[in-house]
Amino acid sequence: MTLVLDSLAVSRGRTAVLHDISLTVSAGEFVCLLGPNGAGKTTVLDTVAGLLRPRGGTLTWEGADLGRTPTHRLISLGVSYAMEGRRLFKRLSVADNLMLGAPPRMGRAAAAAELDRMHELFPPLAGRPGEPAGALSGGQQQMLVIAQALMCRPRLLLLDEPSAGLAPRLVEEVFDGLRRLRGEGGPAVLLVEQDTADALALCDRGYVVDDGRVAFGGACSDLAEDPRVQAVYLGGAAAVPEGDAT
Ligand SMILES: Nc1ncnc2c1ncn2[C@@H]1O[C@H](COP(=O)(O)OP(=O)(O)O)[C@@H](O)[C@H]1O
Ligand SMILES: [Mg+2]
Repeated sequence: MTLVLDSLAVSRGRTAVLHDISLTVSAGEFVCLLGPNGAGKTTVLDTVAGLLRPRGGTLTWEGADLGRTPTHRLISLGVSYAMEGRRLFKRLSVADNLMLGAPPRMGRAAAAAELDRMHELFPPLAGRPGEPAGALSGGQQQMLVIAQALMCRPRLLLLDEPSAGLAPRLVEEVFDGLRRLRGEGGPAVLLVEQDTADALALCDRGYVVDDGRVAFGGACSDLAEDPRVQAVYLGGAAAVPEGDAT
């Protein structure tokens, strides 16, 4: 296990938001966080990224205590965060937006190689390097956000709701790129997603977060059959009696 959250508790301002989050992500593994709006999924990612400090519990990444690591050190530790609704520089070109994701120490040749790799992962970005990011479709802009976060060659990608606001066909285009990334054995991914079906089809394991706690988790193939997954969106995991969870 490279990322380990153990009984993590986190507040936003004076509000306790996460009460008890325990989860693991292994090298190269794709893990999704599911659960209703307001459950605390983004707060989990923000905390892993060092934007919030744990109030209790532990948070380690490759053996280092991430709960005390400043956000600006994240990239050098191999962690990259594609935040929800992240803004691109809409007037800058697609290529310039990608290059902004390359750390300065990477060098031009390596950055150019990464750029080519991003074009292979997300072919819709390949034909239009000089076009302003603002001229891309919503799905292509989301691909650009993910590709920008991948330019630093992370070992862990934190990815918040890549399907948000996209029409189903565009969601599929974005997930096609994520499937290619997975096929390459590329970084571990901790994916927050409202689109339960796509997330469960893509990932190895998943956790359902409800009211700041991990309600349950397991292999995505099991979760896809688990009635509690849908029930949690309709009023909490407790809505399903034990006997029905078969
Ligand atoms: N800046 C904030 N200050 C106080 N509470 C917040 C803030 N942002 C989010 N929250 C609260 O934290 C809870 C979890 O939010 P969030 O992590 O964004 O949930 P999710 O991503 O699962 O929808 C929600 O109840 C939300 O109202
Ligand atoms: Mg969120």
